[in-house]
Amino acid sequence: MPTLLVTGAAGIVGTALRPYLRERFSLRLLDRRPVSELAANETALVGDLTDPAFVRQACEGVDAVLHLACAHGTDIQFQATVEPNYHATLYLLEAAQRAGARRFVFASSHHVLGQYRTQAGEQFDEHPVAPDSYYALSKVFGEAACATFSQRSELATFIVRIGNADAKVADARRLRLWTSARDLAQLVLIGLEHPEVRHEIVYGVSECPQALFHNNRARALGYRPQDHAAEHLADNFLTYDAMAPGGSGRDHVGGAYAGVALASVLEQA
Ligand SMILES: NC(=O)c1ccc[n+]([C@@H]2O[C@H](COP(=O)([O-])OP(=O)(O)OC[C@H]3O[C@@H](n4cnc5c(N)ncnc54)[C@H](O)[C@@H]3O)[C@@H](O)[C@H]2O)c1
Repeated sequence: MPTLLVTGAAGIVGTALRPYLRERFSLRLLDRRPVSELAANETALVGDLTDPAFVRQACEGVDAVLHLACAHGTDIQFQATVEPNYHATLYLLEAAQRAGARRFVFASSHHVLGQYRTQAGEQFDEHPVAPDSYYALSKVFGEAACATFSQRSELATFIVRIGNADAKVADARRLRLWTSARDLAQLVLIGLEHPEVRHEIVYGVSECPQALFHNNRARALGYRPQDHAAEHLADNFLTYDAMAPGGSGRDHVGGAYAGVALASVLEQA
């Protein structure tokens, strides 16, 4: 089996994807927290991606990388994103390319389009980026870095702008961009294995009512979502009318992120 390095493997998405990915890859599970309950073809690597020597060592002998690790939060300050999201992503791209890896799947986010207001029937796939936070801004950087490496090397890159990957659908906004783990795994495997991939941007969403993304490029690459968001509502699901008009962000792609004031970079400097 080829070896796949998964960063941020102890997190929500990494934990949910492991059972699907280890059917096709030997997994090297990297996180700064310990990863639990290793299967036969999984190994764990504990360390921090902000350490370039550790990143180089982590990439030795890998065939592909799934980069999930990042610092995030609605009100994260710019400075707190610089090392883990900018530097670490570049360390990883360079180390993967030097190690001879052929694929790099980057977990981006719908928050790169988060600042747009949602209109009935409008879909946002092709809109220019409008990041809603310093978190989302760092995802735009990661996407651009992937584009650079895919043009300058043999490393093919695949960006998945993930919608919402919680186990259940919490509210009416997330209903329009939710993904099951099974569908997200299908998409990641397309990114890792499809022969046509050089540099792609797709959306990590299942079948959603009033979908915010039509995801035509993913479908053209063979993506066929198996799950319907409307069949996975949380017990305390909030309808659109039950969501508060302001702070809940019900009218923005990025939800509450779009309404939080950006912390001053001048005052942090
Ligand atoms: N969960 C979602 O609904 C969602 C939606 C959109 C995008 N995403 C993206 O998917 C990815 C995974 O999300 P998640 O929900 O699993 O996040 P998470 O916070 O649950 O997991 C992230 C993991 O990365 C690790 N990590 C962070 N910085 C690290 C570093 N410098 N070195 C080593 N490990 C580090 C953390 O310890 C954590 O286990 C993220 O990039 C996130 O932006 C997730």
